Amino acid sequence: KDNPNALLYDINNQAARLYHIVLTSTEIGEQARLYLEKRGITSEIIKQFNIGLAPDENDFIFENLAGKFDETVQVNSGLFNFSSHKVFDAFQNRIMFPLKNEYGHVVGFSGRKWQEGDTSKAKYINTSATSIFDKSYELYNLDKAKPTISKTREVYLMEGFMDVIAAHKAGIFNVVATMGTALTDKHVKRLRKIAKNYVLIYDGDNAGQNAIYKAIDLIGENKTQIVRVPEGLDPDDYSKKYSSEALANLMENGRVQPTEFLIDYLKPENLSNLQNQLDFIEQMAPVIARVPSITAQDAFIRKLVEILPDFEYNQVEQSVNLKRENV
Ligand code: CTP
Ligand code: MN
Ligand code: MN
Ligand code: MN
Ligand code: MN
Repeated sequence: KDNPNALLYDINNQAARLYHIVLTSTEIGEQARLYLEKRGITSEIIKQFNIGLAPDENDFIFENLAGKFDETVQVNSGLFNFSSHKVFDAFQNRIMFPLKNEYGHVVGFSGRKWQEGDTSKAKYINTSATSIFDKSYELYNLDKAKPTISKTREVYLMEGFMDVIAAHKAGIFNVVATMGTALTDKHVKRLRKIAKNYVLIYDGDNAGQNAIYKAIDLIGENKTQIVRVPEGLDPDDYSKKYSSEALANLMENGRVQPTEFLIDYLKPENLSNLQNQLDFIEQMAPVIARVPSITAQDAFIRKLVEILPDFEYNQVEQSVNLKRENV
């Protein structure tokens, strides 16, 4: 094979197949299937997303695949931890989400702990960086989402696997996950080739809100919309709590503009403090000045004035005007 990475794709693909078989067709998979069923993951979804199970053994994949690949491939695959005496499977006793590149090749895995008694710290463990896997470049579900993104020129960005699956179940397919809150320049650059509009739907917690703030800056205000998930929930939780239809409705009709998000996000705790109000105006003025529609600018200024006890419309407008001239 000419591609030096071909064998790495091969071994990861074979591992995915084994994990999938363990989950779907063995007795030890039964408990894990029950866990997934409780989370709304049907056998159809298990098949579509090629979900698997790493059994609670330290060399299951090694035993099955080491004989088929030479040591260089084993070492570079990301599937094993090499200690001085023995080789261990990197994933043990975890629900396995294969991570595919945009062409559908398995390039790595994320494994979720699932058993009650599992005391391991990390909820998810990911393949460490390899020559075919870079977490700051790959986007979960891009292979499946690409046609719909290209057609609609719009992409939803979420945090996690279960969120993407919840959207999928709700009939929304142009959805990818950053596998955490760290959207990178590399992610955005590759999406720019197929998408014009970006809809951020991150978790309704501080980490999610901070991530939205950073992402707006990275993507650009004029290309971004935000869907705010209620406090304490993520998109998957939301669909469980309400319904798939409710999630679809939120994603399609619950969008706000970055300016509206930023007013909420940057609003100081203590608004009776004059300096806090001034700082807030100073932060918001350039944002509002960049809003393309004058009518929308006016609406946002009014919104600010409503919140600020000590400032009138003209004062806020003046700050916006100043920033406008500086653009
Ligand atoms: N993540 C990770 N490593 C962790 C925690 C999270 O890589 N230790 C990534 C996973 O891709 C995860 C995403 O960040 O899906 C979002 O994290 P979080 O919101 O904490 O998890 P959920 O996706 O909500 O996971 P679940 O619903 O299974 O609890
Ligand atoms: Mn989260
Ligand atoms: Mn979450
Ligand atoms: Mn969570
Ligand atoms: Mn979740």
